[in-house]
Formats: sequence, C-alpha cells, structure tokens
Amino acid sequence: MKAIVYTSQTGFTKRYAELLSEATGVPAWSAKEAAKQVPAHSEIFYMGCLVAGAVKGLDTAIERYVIRGVAIVGMNPTGNGDLWTEAKINGGFSDHGARIFYLRGGYAPEKLRGIQKLLMRHMGRSVQKKIQAKGDAVTEQDREMVEMFQHGGDYVSRQALDEIIQWFAEGPHDGMMKASFSLDI
Ligand SMILES: Cc1cc2nc3c(=O)[nH]c(=O)nc-3n(C[C@H](O)[C@H](O)[C@H](O)COP(=O)(O)O)c2cc1C
Repeated sequence: MKAIVYTSQTGFTKRYAELLSEATGVPAWSAKEAAKQVPAHSEIFYMGCLVAGAVKGLDTAIERYVIRGVAIVGMNPTGNGDLWTEAKINGGFSDHGARIFYLRGGYAPEKLRGIQKLLMRHMGRSVQKKIQAKGDAVTEQDREMVEMFQHGGDYVSRQALDEIIQWFAEGPHDGMMKASFSLDI
C-alpha cells in the first residue's frame, strides 16, 4: 500500500490515520496533501468522516487512486450510510471487492460552523425526542448518544484499529472501489 489518504473535518479521522500510519509504516496524507505527494493511480487505503451517510471525499479519491480499502469514521456506535449497507450485503466488502471498515470517531460540536452546526443541532434535538419517547425502554447507549450530541465525545483509540492493522499485514489486496454509478459491461 502506497499511502493512507484521509479527509477529516474535526480531527477524529486524522487521528485514526496517524495512528494507523504509526502502526503500519504506511505514510498518511490528507486528501489535499496527497494531491501533491501521492501519484495518481497509486494503491491507497482511504479514511473519511461520515456526513449525512456519505463518506467525505471518497468520490474524488475513487477517480484518482486505486482504493483497496476504506475506513468510514462516524459518531454512531455502529456503521451507517450507503457504503456500509453495501459492505454488509457483501460480507465486509464493496461491490468491487475493496475491504470496508467502520470506526467510531467522535463528535466535536465546538468545531462545527454554519450550516453543519445548525444541521447537527437540529439532528441532536430530533434524536433526543425519539429517545425520550421510548420511556422505560431507553438504553445506556441511547443516553450516551444524547450526552454526545449535547457535550461531544471522543472514541478514537489505537485498539479500534486492530482489525485494520491485521488486514494491512495480510496484504497485498486486489479488490477496489469503483464509483457507484459505473456500469459493468
Ligand atoms: C453535517 C454532519 C453530518 C454527519 N452525519 C453523520 C452520519 O450520517 N453518521 C454518523 O455516524 N456520523 C455523522 N456525523 C458525525 C461525524 O461523522 C463524526 O463526528 C466524525 O467522527 C467526524 O470525523 P472528523 O473529525 O474526522 O471530521 C455527521 C457530522 C456532521 C457535522
């Protein structure tokens, strides 16, 4: 693997990328840095934060690199979004064989600005309402989610990367990500 390329808005994905780089010896670059440092068509591992179910920067990275694996970083305890749904159907792989992982990052409301801040505030209220409506059925995980929307939270750990580090060690890998709108003919 030539590089780890990441897109991070509030720093959680960046920290995961740096931890993964330390553990594997593969250099990590933000997508912006990678545009200068990592030649097009290189084999990479892509890490991106989740924004409304989509992995940020992934479409652009698919056009430039050969992506062998992806780590999706979100605030939910379990994976979500379109790529994760695809991976669940395929036993942990994208439709074209790239390995897909989910990592719980965190939530840093103080770092959000503008429309994203408003959107997440709204989302937080709606999640809180839904959870309150559960009454006695509220779980510890629900409480944790409400707390996270209110005050933020940080779940980044070296341990969470164990499975990905293992996968790096098992390489080389030959599956890849392709744009979801591409046609197989
Ligand atoms: C506008 C917006 C939408 C988000 N949508 C999702 C989502 O659909 N699923 C999820 O698990 N997390 C979602 N998150 C939370 C981020 O993915 C999470 O905070 C992640 O750790 C951010 O990583 P970063 O610090 O590298 O940017 C969203 C955050 C923002 C600001």
